[in-house]
Amino acid sequence: MKFLPMAELLSRAYKGGYGVPSFFVWNSESIELTLRAAARLKAPVILMTGPWEFSFTGPRELAAVAHALASHFDVQAALHLDHGDTLERVATCLASGYSSVMLDYSTRPFDENVEGLRRAVELARPSGATVEGELGLIGKVDDISAEGAEESTLTDPAMAAEFVQRTGIDALAVSIGNAHGAYTHLPRLDFDRLAKLRESTGIPLVLHGGSGTPPDDLRKAISLGIAKVNVATEIMTAIRGSVMSDWQGGRNMWVPFAQAAAMQEAEKVLEKWIHLTGAAGRA
Ligand code: 13P
Repeated sequence: MKFLPMAELLSRAYKGGYGVPSFFVWNSESIELTLRAAARLKAPVILMTGPWEFSFTGPRELAAVAHALASHFDVQAALHLDHGDTLERVATCLASGYSSVMLDYSTRPFDENVEGLRRAVELARPSGATVEGELGLIGKVDDISAEGAEESTLTDPAMAAEFVQRTGIDALAVSIGNAHGAYTHLPRLDFDRLAKLRESTGIPLVLHGGSGTPPDDLRKAISLGIAKVNVATEIMTAIRGSVMSDWQGGRNMWVPFAQAAAMQEAEKVLEKWIHLTGAAGRA
């Protein structure tokens, strides 16, 4: 299969009342695992990588690996740049075969955020790729989370409407009480705000910081316009826990064995989220 523009997956989910899980991937094992889980559960899925991962494997190499692996699977999937930090990064990912890009200028002044996303849309349109923007700051739970702003500010529905209209983006990441990382206390999602955001923007909305969201809250958020749910920390936690217990127990010293065991734990996380979002059986 070939990667699809993320907007295709999201518009079906938005209309169908389910969410598409967006899983963090960083190497061939994680890409293959995600595609395999999606194929087995007949679920649409998004593979996302961000600037933090590119210091080791760049977007060109990662995209080449993803495209090569994708040719072995019959799945509906998008390859997405998560939290793209510059327009150059966006351009590189598009040239490398990403079918979707996020430009995260949420920490910049509103007009700069608008201008950046407007240009990202211009860059993406020739290849039909999707563009995600973020308005309002989505913070992080603690300092060990790689992603997330230092603080959170909730997304304003009227500003979101203007942002969508002036940029032409396909999907909007919203700040409604969600945060990146492993929640130390349960999030209190602002569902009234989310309903207003759905009303004012009319485009699929994105929930960053999916890990740890209570299932009932997740279902409610999806019913109010969330069409994409980002999950990273739970995958990391599963892998870290498995590797640590394997190595601390002194049972083996062979990295591939530890990795294989860890990926089995990660697979359980992927399956859980494919079911939680209602994506199973939708592709
Ligand atoms: P979590 O790490 O909290 O799952 O969030 C992931 C995310 O939103 C990536 O952008």
